[in-house]
Amino acid sequence: MKDITSASLRALYLEFFKQKGHAVIPSASVIPENDPTVLFTTAGMHPLVPYLLGNPHPAGTRLTDVQKCVRTSDIDDVGDFSHLTFFEMMGNWSLGDYFKKEAIEWSWEFLTSPEWLGLDPERLAFSVFAGDENAPRDEVSADLWHSVGVPRERIFYLPKENNWWGPNGQTGPCGPDSEMFMITDTPACGSDCSPACSCGHYLEIWNDVFMQYNKIADGTFVPLPKPNVDTGMGLERTLCVLTGKKSVYETDLFAEIIAKIEELTGEKYGESTEITRAIRIVSDHMRTSVFMIGDEKGITPGKVDQGYVLRRIIRRAVRHGKKLGAPNGFTAQVAQVIIDKYKDVYPELERNASFIKEQLVLEEEQFERTLHNGSREFEKAAARAKDGVLDGLTAFHLYDTYGFPIEITRELAAEHGLTVDEAAYAEHFEAHQALSRAGAEQRFKGGLADHSDDTAKLHTATHLLNAALRKVLSPDVNQKGSNITAERLRFDFNFARKMTKEELVEVERLVNEAIAADAVIDCREMTVEEAREEGAVGVFEGRYGERVKVYAMGGFSKEICGGPHASRTGELGHFKIQKEESSSAGVRRIKAVLE
Ligand code: ALA
Repeated sequence: MKDITSASLRALYLEFFKQKGHAVIPSASVIPENDPTVLFTTAGMHPLVPYLLGNPHPAGTRLTDVQKCVRTSDIDDVGDFSHLTFFEMMGNWSLGDYFKKEAIEWSWEFLTSPEWLGLDPERLAFSVFAGDENAPRDEVSADLWHSVGVPRERIFYLPKENNWWGPNGQTGPCGPDSEMFMITDTPACGSDCSPACSCGHYLEIWNDVFMQYNKIADGTFVPLPKPNVDTGMGLERTLCVLTGKKSVYETDLFAEIIAKIEELTGEKYGESTEITRAIRIVSDHMRTSVFMIGDEKGITPGKVDQGYVLRRIIRRAVRHGKKLGAPNGFTAQVAQVIIDKYKDVYPELERNASFIKEQLVLEEEQFERTLHNGSREFEKAAARAKDGVLDGLTAFHLYDTYGFPIEITRELAAEHGLTVDEAAYAEHFEAHQALSRAGAEQRFKGGLADHSDDTAKLHTATHLLNAALRKVLSPDVNQKGSNITAERLRFDFNFARKMTKEELVEVERLVNEAIAADAVIDCREMTVEEAREEGAVGVFEGRYGERVKVYAMGGFSKEICGGPHASRTGELGHFKIQKEESSSAGVRRIKAVLE
């Protein structure tokens, strides 16, 4: 086996499929676009669902990429040797182009050819779908593996729970799959040991999904117009197996991150199970947080949805970091190491570096203030817990008053030999979430209240305001939300502190100057790539090849947008800021009117 690193594995994968006629496309955002069914992108195929369902993709019918993914369902297991909440998935797709034959032959070539991974064929095993009432036994794939040289005894037929794939097992494109495994030095656990077994003899490295169906809401499987191939190879996991490491945390991806945590805490990875586990949790959770905040559609810690997942992850990292003895502000220092490690592959992290660090430290400080008192409160409740169970109301109180996410309470409870009455906790929590969500919807119905002339003018004014803020404060300022009625505009943007009076006066002056110039508002349609080249502002990541409208206002503002606008800036009248205030941590809000 060759010397392999994360960088060379990514490069080899993309190069191999490029040579097989695939277009290399960029990773989409970890925050899914227009998909209310999931909070995060959980697999490489996720951003491609519309194309897997039959829409033409602008880059063609053969695609390959490395996709940023977040899966938080196993968050409690993070700390063992393999679980991660963030990972990269390498994949290749056939959108109604090739099917099983090419997919299997290429997988084999990539794995075994000395030019590529050069793995020992004797060390590989394969699984195919055993068949059920929805789809037949996959003899075609089994024969294909056999024809490239795999002996029959290393081809396993497994049932749906092992060899069927669909997005989160929910609705959407799905089908039987064929998985590829490395055979390790760990002996088989018995004569019926198979790749379905978790004894460690077989470790999965790649999955070829043969998407032939769309599972719809009533549970039926509708054949797709054309069958697709969707494959996924987890970078961290495969790197670990290929380099013979015992844990994903021992791959080069984590080396600098762990070294930094060791330096900051004085503790050593491997010193004890407890320390190793805590260092892994901090490493994993920090990496996930950096990618969530630093994403092109970056999110900030909050009370609901993605923001709440982020908050939980940061807080758990902070608790474990503090337990290890990390100094205040350690999250920013670890984040910088992560940004440096990944910036060549994901340049958005470097672009958003100061925002990432500000957000982390704000959240760290906010949690720090209650961590100590919350821990004392927990100790008291633990002392009075009955039958080894911490009651749900206490768990909710720890959340509501001290900001302890349930994982933290659960973990503290386990450290005291207790469990938590999670059903009771969930009841309290859900009642509370419903209230905050209703609040959030009221605050932000999103975008424009109507399409009246006055609303359109105020909408145009937000473009001028956005441009002026970037000129006065920093080019890193980005829109984080807006809400416009016929009477006033509200504009949210990332910025860490209150604006000074002078800055507000200057922003107002620049906007009014742009209005006085009476520039024609020019709207042109182009691809996202062209918009980026022209220096337009907006969300780019994950919008590969999409056609967008770009509104230019003199030389002052150029922005991707869809909404209604005035025709000349001169129509706007006089722009006046009424208020500048905090919207959430690290996000400011301006309210303004046109007079
Ligand atoms: N979508 C498939 C997976 O995530 C390839 O395993």
